[in-house]
This record gives sequence, C-alpha cells and structure tokens, in this order.
Amino acid sequence: MTIYDSLYQFTEYIAPIKLSIHQYLLAAPEPVLIHTGTADQTERIIPQLKEILGSVPPKYILVSHFESDECGGISILKNNFPDVTVVCSEICARQLAGFGYDGNILVKRAGETLEGDGFLFSFVNYPSEVHLQNGLLFFEEVRKILFSSDLMFRLGDSHGKLIESVWRDEVYSIDMSRVPNEEKLKSMKNELLKIDPEFIAVGHGPCVRVD
Ligand SMILES: [Fe+2]
Ligand SMILES: [Fe+2]
Repeated sequence: MTIYDSLYQFTEYIAPIKLSIHQYLLAAPEPVLIHTGTADQTERIIPQLKEILGSVPPKYILVSHFESDECGGISILKNNFPDVTVVCSEICARQLAGFGYDGNILVKRAGETLEGDGFLFSFVNYPSEVHLQNGLLFFEEVRKILFSSDLMFRLGDSHGKLIESVWRDEVYSIDMSRVPNEEKLKSMKNELLKIDPEFIAVGHGPCVRVD
C-alpha cells in the first residue's frame, strides 16, 4: 500500500529505543529508492521490492548521508539490482568507496537536479555527513515530496502513520540536536523555506502533510 502518490514506505521498528526507520520506493516509470535501512532491513525488503517492481529494476537509490540506517544495506541492494546508481553527496561517495562499495555512484550538489521518467528531484544541503560536512536532502518536485532524512524526527512505532502540520513550523522547530552548529542550521533552514513541500517523507516517525 502506498503512503502517498506512488510512494511506498517500508519500516523497521526498534522497540527498545522506540525508533522507526523508514525507507521509500517512488514507483515512477523509472523507480527510485530512498535509503536502504540497515543491512538486515535491506534483506527483508528485497522480496517486497521485487514483487512491487516486477521486471523494472530501480534506477536510482538516493542516500542523504553515510550512516547505517540510510545506507547500511547498499551492497546487498546492489547485489540484487546491479545496475542501480547511488545518488549522494561527494563526502558520502568517498565514504562508500572507502568502505568497499564498488557500484555506480552519481554525486550531486545543492541546486542541481535529477530528472527521469516520472520524477524531478532537486537537492538541498544537509550538514549531516561526518564532521558536519554536507549531505543532501531530496525534494521531488512533481509530487512536492521532501525526503527529510533525520529532520522532522519523532519517536514511536509509526509505519504508515501521518500527522498534519505547517511547513514553516516544521522548519522552525529543527533544533541543534539535529544540526549542532548555529550557522549551518540557520543556513539550512533558509534554504528549506525556499521550497514548498506538500508531504514530508521522514526517515523516522510519522510522515507529515503540510500546508
Ligand atoms: Fe542519520
Ligand atoms: Fe536516520
């Protein structure tokens, strides 16, 4: 079942820490995955992905930053879909290569776009890589979905759950527990206020419908 327009959500719930970890499949004519989850989670979702995708493999996997819940299963994913291309920041690309990932990688920067059959992504800087270097947030402009990674973070078992909010409030409420540098946090918030999402597909917690 989709959680939004052509968007499937997959979830691993870690009960002791009340953390839901979501991954997404944008089932466009050229399908796009967003995050792999941990290696265990990737193993679990591969059969579901194959069932939904049929004979059309994912074209891209978008990785906001290098961390186990965002890309821990990347090699497992590549073994199942060898032609998939990872889309990520330059820093993340270096980390992946340094940890032995040898699949396709496409480096993107803030302000650039990625267009394919049924989608158009733009990118926003997200200081989430090691030492507060820039990772990426993904905004799908056709459906107005922001993939917010570890921002708009809420705890709880939240598979398939939605809340409603106001975009400005969601941006203003990002605090230094998410980006622990005042200047970088402010600059990211300013960039986020320039986009107008209608749906926030979060990495953790309930997704958010926004005005
Ligand atoms: Fe993360
Ligand atoms: Fe995360």
